[in-house]
Amino acid sequence: MTFQNIPKIELHTHLEGCAPPSFIKGLAAEKNIDLSKIFASDGGYAFRDFDHFLQVYEAACTTLQSPEDFRRLTMAVLEETAKHGVVYMETFVSPDFCGGGDLTAWRDYLAAMEDAANEAEQTLGITLKGIVTGIRHFGPEANKPAAKCAVETFGNFITGYGMAGGEMVGRPGDYAYSFDMAREAGMPLTCHAGEWGGAAMVAETIRDLGVERIGHGIGAIKDPALVEEIAEKGITLEVCPGSNVVLKAVDSWGNHPIVKLRDKGVKITVSTDDPPFFHTTMTDEYDMLNQTFGWDNDDFKTINETALAAAFCDDDTRARIAKRLETQ
Ligand code: ADE
Ligand code: ZN
Repeated sequence: MTFQNIPKIELHTHLEGCAPPSFIKGLAAEKNIDLSKIFASDGGYAFRDFDHFLQVYEAACTTLQSPEDFRRLTMAVLEETAKHGVVYMETFVSPDFCGGGDLTAWRDYLAAMEDAANEAEQTLGITLKGIVTGIRHFGPEANKPAAKCAVETFGNFITGYGMAGGEMVGRPGDYAYSFDMAREAGMPLTCHAGEWGGAAMVAETIRDLGVERIGHGIGAIKDPALVEEIAEKGITLEVCPGSNVVLKAVDSWGNHPIVKLRDKGVKITVSTDDPPFFHTTMTDEYDMLNQTFGWDNDDFKTINETALAAAFCDDDTRARIAKRLETQ
């Protein structure tokens, strides 16, 4: 059985992390950048562990040097994603990789991404929204220009603010200035937590950053009171099981806590994170959830409805996308 064609909502992707290896190799060749070290013999990205993954990711990003590169990237990513039935996608975009946090440059990069998103909406029937994302391991000070870029460009395409990167750098409260800035501008918030940091990191992220969604959040499972709090507050988890297995945040699909979290009433959604890095697609994620836990069309309908309810888009978009889910 394959779930390729059922309409899907995907909330947790990183735009650069969705770049097909062939796309990055093409840009590297155009620009004479030697990236041979980051590719495996099968042509995919090669990394040993999470820290090395972040290094390989950033090396791939060195090929992305202009708004035009990001326009092409956005189109290449949406072509791949649309093949798997995704009708609505949110993606993390980082001013740090788009002009180094400079607001004027950021506006140009963003215009190019939005341009591609508009074209893909017409030609591929997929809607893309961006979440401006600070990079945690760049430190709290470097996250402030990212938040400023977020606040200044919050609107139709940029719909939220978040933070990704090395979770074990600092504590969530160290980044409160940036999250406060975004919240005061009315932006919905999400933050990677509990991918590596365990339950305490998730609890502090909720307490100190006031997020309504958590990227991953699986570490919460170790603290039953926290799981109850997440369920009671209606915080949505952006769960990426295939990513967690490949990066070894969990040891196997069978031991992934997604079912336990769902059974405790936590709002669960499913995403790919950085699909080519983890040799996954949304179809693969659904197929594995079916094979491992027996999830079927009804389960997937529920997670897509949960995801749409937690999406950071405007209500007109939400209503339009809801009609597309009805076709399942
Ligand atoms: N950036 C890209 N993928 C990430 C992940 N899985 N965790 C943290 N930062 C990331
Ligand atoms: Zn992520």
